[in-house]
Amino acid sequence: MCGIVAYIRKGSGASSRVIEGLKKLEYRGYDSWGIATVAEESSAPVAVVKKVGKIGSVDSSRVSRALGRDRGVAIGHTRWATHGGITQKNAHPHVDCSGRLAVVHNGIIENYQGFRDRLIKRGHRLLSETDTEIIPHLVEEGMSAGRSFRDAVLEVSRQLEGRSAFVLMDAGSGQIAAVRLGAPLIVGVGKEPGEMYVSSDIAGFLDYTNRVMYIDDGQAAFLHFDGTRPKFFEIAFGESVYKRIVTVDWKRGEVGKSGYDHFLMKEIMEQKHTIADAINQDDKRILEIAGSIRHASVVFLVGSGTAGRVCAAGEYLFSTIAKKHVNAEVASEFRNYKHYLTNKALMIAISQSGETTDVLEVIDIAKPRGAKVLSLLNVFGSTMMRMSDDFLMINAGAEHAVASTKATTAQLSLVTLLAYATAGRLDEGKRLLLNAAAQVNDMLNPRYEEYIKKLARKLKNKHDIMIIGRGVNYPMAEEAAIKLTETSYIHAHGFAGGELKHGPLALVEKGTPCIALIANDDTKAEMLSNAIEVKARGGYVIGVSPENNKIFDYWIRVPDAGNASPIANIIPIQMLGYHLALLRGINPDYPRNLAKSVTVK
Ligand code: G6P
Repeated sequence: MCGIVAYIRKGSGASSRVIEGLKKLEYRGYDSWGIATVAEESSAPVAVVKKVGKIGSVDSSRVSRALGRDRGVAIGHTRWATHGGITQKNAHPHVDCSGRLAVVHNGIIENYQGFRDRLIKRGHRLLSETDTEIIPHLVEEGMSAGRSFRDAVLEVSRQLEGRSAFVLMDAGSGQIAAVRLGAPLIVGVGKEPGEMYVSSDIAGFLDYTNRVMYIDDGQAAFLHFDGTRPKFFEIAFGESVYKRIVTVDWKRGEVGKSGYDHFLMKEIMEQKHTIADAINQDDKRILEIAGSIRHASVVFLVGSGTAGRVCAAGEYLFSTIAKKHVNAEVASEFRNYKHYLTNKALMIAISQSGETTDVLEVIDIAKPRGAKVLSLLNVFGSTMMRMSDDFLMINAGAEHAVASTKATTAQLSLVTLLAYATAGRLDEGKRLLLNAAAQVNDMLNPRYEEYIKKLARKLKNKHDIMIIGRGVNYPMAEEAAIKLTETSYIHAHGFAGGELKHGPLALVEKGTPCIALIANDDTKAEMLSNAIEVKARGGYVIGVSPENNKIFDYWIRVPDAGNASPIANIIPIQMLGYHLALLRGINPDYPRNLAKSVTVK
């Protein structure tokens, strides 16, 4: 979704680093971008370039030239449209009437409409349909009434509702304000004297510095710039809070495509090792956590999207492996269950990015009630990590493609391991998962991919695909549907096998494809019966299973991975999604309308 990068340095030439920073946020999914600088000599103090489309292939030097010589400051943004369509006008930065203030903003201002109407009545020229644009105009008013930039920013910030973060640049006083109101924003301390970064995502500057200061919610950092005087590069927080510089000892992992055409295929292939990496944990901590799971009065597993499906699989895994009832819920629907949260409750939040707003909101509900929060994360230093009482890293390395693959199976691996640890069978869990990792390693070979490609060719013109599963593979059927939908734009729907006859069967006609995820467990016989019901009505049955069966029109062979069957079953579907995307002319890495890091509700 939206991304913010700002940069201050001694001298001029700040914009190119912001462009590079924005390119690092490319993976988040967005539809337009823009940059503003303070021009060294110009009648309009703020220079802005903004465009619809991707910044990835944009030549940095051309953009820098268009912006002109700057005073050692630049702010930039990638926008994922919420308020107002995908247009150049709606792209950030937005400026005030005087042209001296420019803002980039993530998240949503829920009460913007009233401010906007009043600003227009008072004669302000608002050029976009965004909620963001009210910020520079409100600060402009505060400053016209005699307040300093700092006071005006703090006053406006206090009035904004909703989760957001913004960076506002003032060409007049030579400052930028970085304000965090519920959405992430981190300050990076550069290596050169006076060099500072601000970004919504550590990836925006991690190539240049790993020394950071975290801005907390409700805080504002003011950074001074002036191309000539290094002493001006100081940082001050709104309420004069002391901030420690923290060195982030974390590598995002391989960030290139490593010779693959797309991140999606690279990340699918990385599952050869990420399953084992995920369970490479400190036994002592795992056992401690298992103890808290056992003793909690109630345990919730919460996540969004694909991570939400991992939570649902977790509910089955804890039940079958540890005989422990845990409650899985998608984060956006959790509110209803808040009454069960006490200081004896445990909340396990699962999130690749650690920034998903819906999950952050659940943690906000859990903490004041005294519930303990454990997060399973892939991004170190993320908001969720800092909000949680404890966390475990899933160790999948940077995941760029919007469609989650290696993070999903890493999450599944760690949840399975925790279930075994809770059952007092940690070593058995490790053995099972290491075996699954080896089986996946064998499975991911060129011949296998060729076979999946053949199936993709058969399915490429279909309008609907049904996917069925039972037990722990029911949530995996739903996850398979998410994967196929987001990569191929074919309507795919995942059902519990037993629910077919309660509605979906009405859709089956000659040639309707139905993927059946059939594990070698106590659901097998019933799953085969469900597949037969589809076949009897002319459906085209694709069995994902360790063994072939005569009812399958197409067999995708997967290893018999026991309780790790969700991992084994989802990987061929990820690959199928990739090839469907290619055959249908879709960029597998960046599906339309979707984002990697979902920072709005
Ligand atoms: C988006 C991504 C999904 C992800 C979900 C939750 O929809 O495309 O892959 O599962 O957000 O994100 P999180 O970072 O919390 O795992």
